Amino acid sequence: MTIHIGAAAGEIAETVLLPGDPYRARWAADTFLDSPKLVNEVRGMLGYTGTWKGNPVTIQGSGMGMPSLSIYVNELIRDYGAKTLVRIGSCGGMQDHVNIRDVIVAMTATSVSTPSRGIFKELNFAPTADWTLLRAAVAAAEAKSTPTHVGGIYSSDVFYDERPDLNEQMVRHGILGVEMEAAELYTLALRHGRRALAVLTVSDHLLTGEALPSDEREKSFGDMVEIALTAAFA
Ligand code: HPA
Repeated sequence: MTIHIGAAAGEIAETVLLPGDPYRARWAADTFLDSPKLVNEVRGMLGYTGTWKGNPVTIQGSGMGMPSLSIYVNELIRDYGAKTLVRIGSCGGMQDHVNIRDVIVAMTATSVSTPSRGIFKELNFAPTADWTLLRAAVAAAEAKSTPTHVGGIYSSDVFYDERPDLNEQMVRHGILGVEMEAAELYTLALRHGRRALAVLTVSDHLLTGEALPSDEREKSFGDMVEIALTAAFA
């Protein structure tokens, strides 16, 4: 048990999928895992452990934004020994060739700030995905013929953005999509020698204003979960 995770020692798998939304953790566990067991409900941030093709997996909600994700990932790594951490989440599309429902596999995550900012000070650290996971996720997406983009994303601190010029610079520099968690996930995994990746579904688009209707989200999110699981155990 930690401050924010109620699971007993041994109840968290070495492989952890991290949706932002705790209800999506429940949906993914019910849909993809065999014998899912609720292992955390502290603050309603649901976490489940079960197996996928015989492999132990935990699906733990991370909450929204890097400060929240940082709490769960620190505890998962330090106290529960998580070794492979894959964020499964949604993002806003930032390029014309990126469409709603497409999947983005994030090679790097640019940010204005992360909870690790205090360590780096004047350094512009480049949070980077684990190559073995990235390669396996791209192979899994290709095998499923899921429209997929691989490149940089932007981990923003805000959803309601008062600085549209920042998004403009991201678009100008080829960033594929915006979300709010991956940069800190990558930084923590690199610091502790663990593997991390973010696999994202484009749920809305900053250039076109489109948004995925909630009833259509499930199928796209399902593809993303399968890609994440396949990559984790490749
Ligand atoms: N901005 C930030 N985070 C997001 C977005 C967005 O447009 N869409 C999904 N997560």
